[in-house]
Amino acid sequence: MKSSPWWKEATIYQIYPRSFFDSNGDGEGDLPGITAHLDYVQQLGVDAIWLSPFYTSPNKDGGYDVANPRDVDPRFGNLEDAKRLIEQAHQRELRVIADIVPNHFSDQHEWFQAALSAGRGSKERARFHFYDGNTDGTPPNNWISLFGGPSWTQVEDGQYYLHLFDSSQPDLNWDNPEVNEDFEKTLRFWIDLGVDGFRIDVAHGLVKEDVLKNHSDPQGLSNALRLDVAMDPSKRNALLLTVPYFDRQGVHAIYRKWRTLFDSYAGRDIMAVAEAWVHPPENATRYVRPDELHQVFNFDLLTAEFESKALFEVIDRAITLNATVSALPTWALSNHDSPRVASRIGSEQARALALFVFGLPGSAYVFAGQELGLPDGELADSDRQDPSFFRTNGVIKGRDGARVPLPWSGETTPFGFTSAKPWLPISQSWKELTIESELQDPKSSLHLYRNALNLRKDLMTGSGEINWIQSPGHGDKGNSLLSYTRGTVTVIMNLSESAQECDIDGRLLAVSNGTVEGHNGKKVIPARSSAWFSA
Ligand code: BGC
Repeated sequence: MKSSPWWKEATIYQIYPRSFFDSNGDGEGDLPGITAHLDYVQQLGVDAIWLSPFYTSPNKDGGYDVANPRDVDPRFGNLEDAKRLIEQAHQRELRVIADIVPNHFSDQHEWFQAALSAGRGSKERARFHFYDGNTDGTPPNNWISLFGGPSWTQVEDGQYYLHLFDSSQPDLNWDNPEVNEDFEKTLRFWIDLGVDGFRIDVAHGLVKEDVLKNHSDPQGLSNALRLDVAMDPSKRNALLLTVPYFDRQGVHAIYRKWRTLFDSYAGRDIMAVAEAWVHPPENATRYVRPDELHQVFNFDLLTAEFESKALFEVIDRAITLNATVSALPTWALSNHDSPRVASRIGSEQARALALFVFGLPGSAYVFAGQELGLPDGELADSDRQDPSFFRTNGVIKGRDGARVPLPWSGETTPFGFTSAKPWLPISQSWKELTIESELQDPKSSLHLYRNALNLRKDLMTGSGEINWIQSPGHGDKGNSLLSYTRGTVTVIMNLSESAQECDIDGRLLAVSNGTVEGHNGKKVIPARSSAWFSA
């Protein structure tokens, strides 16, 4: 069954271009490398690919420091390669989502270079947040960069500019209409080239209020300030409630305008998904009101423990909250900013959770390599490239572990990813986790994903709401089982360390780990495993 429009219940495969496949032997993945492997992506059973940035960039923050948002960085290819990738994806019925970065540019963008030379008070500086420091020479306020260190950097004439991330990523001033005009030009540019949607980076950060005021930090958290997924969730949420630069109401006017732009492409079903780290979770639903964006990431699932109460709450709340604005939730277990799910909760648990969420209403996001069950790469400090590692003097290790290139084939590293030295080392211990090796093993994670995603497409999408059968406090006294029905399918997850007998009649469709035993209305679900049954 198919949902309409296409994005409503899509499965979206996130590709980090630098780590997917190197076609020209320079140690880094590129656009032709992706195009050459679209059959692999299609066979996974996904509906769309989301490409992390491939635009012109000095690459100080993995390409999220964009120097020209309307061109391709030569490391990844050129515009013709992008066009070909989109065309080839479309031929395989795969939609393409581009990652747009509106909160900041690279300091190498022509606007910022012009702002540096034009000097204080100029219209070029008015596109960013340039201010004089305090009379004692300190920066205009006490805000701290999310990558560590101050969020202000001084330029030659003494003024400071704001950067919520690295000093090479100056924040744009969204009160300046030129900024929106330029972004609308960028959106149109990629839509005209054929893309079907956008992932909006730092969607909650564009509008700042009270830029000259200090961040009053009643809980003394800002010394440790680094608002990322690896941070303790309670501290992160406490910070999100107090920081003055996220989730300001002004951002919604921007998305309403963009929605009009998307909808003006009649028949194209252009969609957008917001990366909005906000708290409380109710605030996230504001981004998906009917006249704003189409989806918002549900980051609580990326950090929830493998525990029935926590998972039930996160899943049930996402469904309920999205319903208040007639939206459907999103489900992501990994991305390029967070530890890989197999490392975070364990590899069996990761398989079980994936099979469980693939049955839910809404869109499922899969981060390339997740289908193989990849853990985080083991890296030496000398390998690291993430700016947060450098800006915290190595206290925070950063996100490189999740970005290690994919192992494709062969017996020895770099497993066919490149003919050169890969930009991050690929551990020899991944020998059994290559695509080639997993294709030969019917019990592999790759086979599980392929089967599950194809079943999801056939049986689940468009099947409406779920009905919980077992959840903490309801039908499951031991807090070890979660189960629901959707359409004709029953989905059950055993979170415990031992096999559990359940009352289920029906034919086994898929199991994440081990084998399901049983008959006559009783089934034994293995420890740390999920299964789907048809009625
Ligand atoms: C992206 C990160 C990036 C940051 C700054 C994010 O949320 O996902 O990878 O470092 O924005 O652009």
